[in-house]
Amino acid sequence: MLLPDYKKARSRGHEEVQKEKYEIPKKYEKIGKGKTYYVKTYGCQMNEHDTENIKAMLEQLGFSECDSYENSDLVLLNTCSIRENAHNKAFGMLGRLKHLKEENPNLLVGVCGCMAQEEGVVKEIMNHYRFVNFVFGTHNIHRLPEVLYESIHEKKQEIEVYSKEGNIIEDMPVKRANSFKAYVNIIYGCDKFCTYCIVPYTRGKQRSRAMDDILKEVKELISEGYQEVTLLGQNVNAYGKDLKDGYGLSDLLEEVAKTGIPRIRFMTSHPWDFTDEMIDVIAKYDNIMPSIHLPVQSGSNRILKLMGRRYTREEYLTLFHKMKERIPRVTISTDIIVGFPTETEEDFQETVDLVEECKFDNAFSFIFSPREGTAAAKIKDDTSEEEKQERLYRLNEVLNNYFLMNHQKMVGSIVPVLVEGSNASMKTSLYGYTDTNVLINFDGDTSLIGKIIPVKITEAKTWSIDGELVKETSKE
Ligand code: 5AD
Ligand code: SF4
Repeated sequence: MLLPDYKKARSRGHEEVQKEKYEIPKKYEKIGKGKTYYVKTYGCQMNEHDTENIKAMLEQLGFSECDSYENSDLVLLNTCSIRENAHNKAFGMLGRLKHLKEENPNLLVGVCGCMAQEEGVVKEIMNHYRFVNFVFGTHNIHRLPEVLYESIHEKKQEIEVYSKEGNIIEDMPVKRANSFKAYVNIIYGCDKFCTYCIVPYTRGKQRSRAMDDILKEVKELISEGYQEVTLLGQNVNAYGKDLKDGYGLSDLLEEVAKTGIPRIRFMTSHPWDFTDEMIDVIAKYDNIMPSIHLPVQSGSNRILKLMGRRYTREEYLTLFHKMKERIPRVTISTDIIVGFPTETEEDFQETVDLVEECKFDNAFSFIFSPREGTAAAKIKDDTSEEEKQERLYRLNEVLNNYFLMNHQKMVGSIVPVLVEGSNASMKTSLYGYTDTNVLINFDGDTSLIGKIIPVKITEAKTWSIDGELVKETSKE
């Protein structure tokens, strides 16, 4: 048994991160033979991508995927800790699984992901969710076969969570959710320690993957026909800071662009690490999509300081306008937290003012959620829940207005769209994303799915646009 320890998770050692190759030991190869699995994923793209590795590992063990958890032999929850809401959802699901397990005692239940890295969560599972068979964390996903084997053969609750990140594991198997767009990890962990955020504890210290390994993966994806890669990390702009070869995100973006993959996206960016070189590279290459997610979190300098964000409102705005000037057609989206401890109506108004200046193309807005172990969770807060809800409502009104306004400006133009799928109910109704990352619906044949085609925009809505096919051969 190996339990999470926040003290260790918080520390940042200088030991060098090594590369390790994933190999599945022979003795585990048949433990899932004839059995089915279901993985429920909560949280961000990082977790979604981990699930792609987890699914492939389970299939190497002989399991096959089932589309409902009620009929599966193994149910694994890949959890998220970012806000209480995600936490509650996972525990709600565990409640349902408890009933299922009473009916079917052979059901195997596992918990992994960010919540598994939390001391309090693991204690709760040990004390009140004894039916959970196994738990592993974000640093030892590659140990899934061993952990599962132990829990089955020792007939006990097996808990193995590393508190400190280990090496970077290369060549993990992957079962991608999509056959034309793919996630590629470029950096793990985060060293920023924004005071509200649990991620530096659950995902460990910043570790970049070697550029050669990333390029190898992208080239393989190209040979398999992939059209789009999203380079992933908690803070992709810190890419390379821990490497000895002096590469940064701008170098990596340039090299990935040169592979010729039609579309490159990256997320998430911290404004503090965004350099001029990065902006120049994004502007220079047509296959780097002109769409940047740039979380601002607050428009008040006092709150930004309390959040430990390392930039001022003015610095954010300078960067924002520089991007808009230098990158043609760029869209910028953001994340905003309202109701951070001690936030006053004046602080909140500064956030609204900033939104009015930036007119964001998209945004995710949240009410502050105290996370155990983080610095912000200790700040006394006397704003009522009602007041916070009200601020969120007011902020969303302003944000939504700009989404619609920006979409209206697109009407009449022709944009490249990667067709992602069809709306199940209507056979001819396709959807996809523009290069600027706007969801678009239009009529067309399902044979277009997976292709990049020009679409003319006909109507604007708040969260999407409508369009029609342009009679032209596809760009592909
Ligand atoms: N409470 C509310 N929102 C949070 N986020 C991160 N931590 C918290 C928290 N404790 C938001 C931030 C971040 C996004 C992924 O989630 O806005 O950018
Ligand atoms: Fe949730 Fe953050 Fe973990 Fe992603 S990294 S799953 S957002 S806690």
